[in-house]
Amino acid sequence: MPLVTTEKMFKAAYDGGFAVGAFNVNNMELLQAIVEAAKAENAPLILQISKGARAYANIKYLKAMIDVAVAQTDLPIVIHCDHGDTFELCKECVEDGYTSVMIDASALSLAENIAMTKKVVEYAHAKGVVVEAELGKLAGEEEHVKVEDRDAIFTNPDEAHKFVTESGCDSLAVAIGTKHGPNKFSGEAKINFDRLARIQEKVPGFPLVMHGSSSVPQEFVDRCNKYGGKLPDARGVPEDMIHKAATEFGVVKVNIDTDLRLVLTAMIREVFEKNPAEIDPRKYLGPGREAIIKMVRHKMQILNVSGKADLFKT
Ligand code: G3H
Ligand code: 13P
Ligand code: ZN
Repeated sequence: MPLVTTEKMFKAAYDGGFAVGAFNVNNMELLQAIVEAAKAENAPLILQISKGARAYANIKYLKAMIDVAVAQTDLPIVIHCDHGDTFELCKECVEDGYTSVMIDASALSLAENIAMTKKVVEYAHAKGVVVEAELGKLAGEEEHVKVEDRDAIFTNPDEAHKFVTESGCDSLAVAIGTKHGPNKFSGEAKINFDRLARIQEKVPGFPLVMHGSSSVPQEFVDRCNKYGGKLPDARGVPEDMIHKAATEFGVVKVNIDTDLRLVLTAMIREVFEKNPAEIDPRKYLGPGREAIIKMVRHKMQILNVSGKADLFKT
């Protein structure tokens, strides 16, 4: 199946109570593992590429490998620009054949964020590419944020309707308590479902996106630390919360990068601990790739997206 945009995917996800996993790709092993998992689960898939990944892997190599992977499946697959920070980067991604771009202007004022998003939307839509935008800031840990400061940091439900209407974006990343990286929460981990419900109420049916959604499985934190890792505060978003957001609250895209990093690193550390003399990259990247397939399959089950590729096959 040729590459697709998120348009039909998000509608089906919203109506069907599931979310599509968006996994960050940085190299061949990660790509192969993610695509193998999607094949095994018969799941639609979003492969996302950050600015850093474009630079690290050379986008031409990455795109060529993705094209090979896509040609070998009959799954609906999206190539998405993760956290595009400028109009120029989004434009380059469109030119490179991505089917979806994110413009992350969430650090700007509401008016500037709308203006920047609108500019990307106008360019991308003319080329048949969809746009994700972000309203609110992901950085904080909710339990450390004073109540009066929350509206300044997390997505303000009252602004959501104005933002999506005026910017013309196709999906909206919301800040509702999740955070990037392995150390998300120091106290009780939580997604603010009340805020999520209030956002959904203001933009009924509109596709919402959750960043910072790795669950940071304890098994791999322990494995990583056992073999010399240092992740004392690692704490992710509990899987039951991710499942609830995906199945009951209109979240149609869930972003995962840290879990891929953690699993790959834990497996590599384990190989070197057991055999410090190992010098064959296939012997340490191979077990990492196998473990990632298992982890991504599990993640897809949590997102209720397994089997949903059938909805797109004619
Ligand atoms: O949200 C950010 C993603 O984890 C990408 O990270 O910019 O280091 O590739 P990166
Ligand atoms: P994690 O750091 O929780 O994996 O989030 C990744 C992400 O949001 C990429 O945009
Ligand atoms: Zn993100």
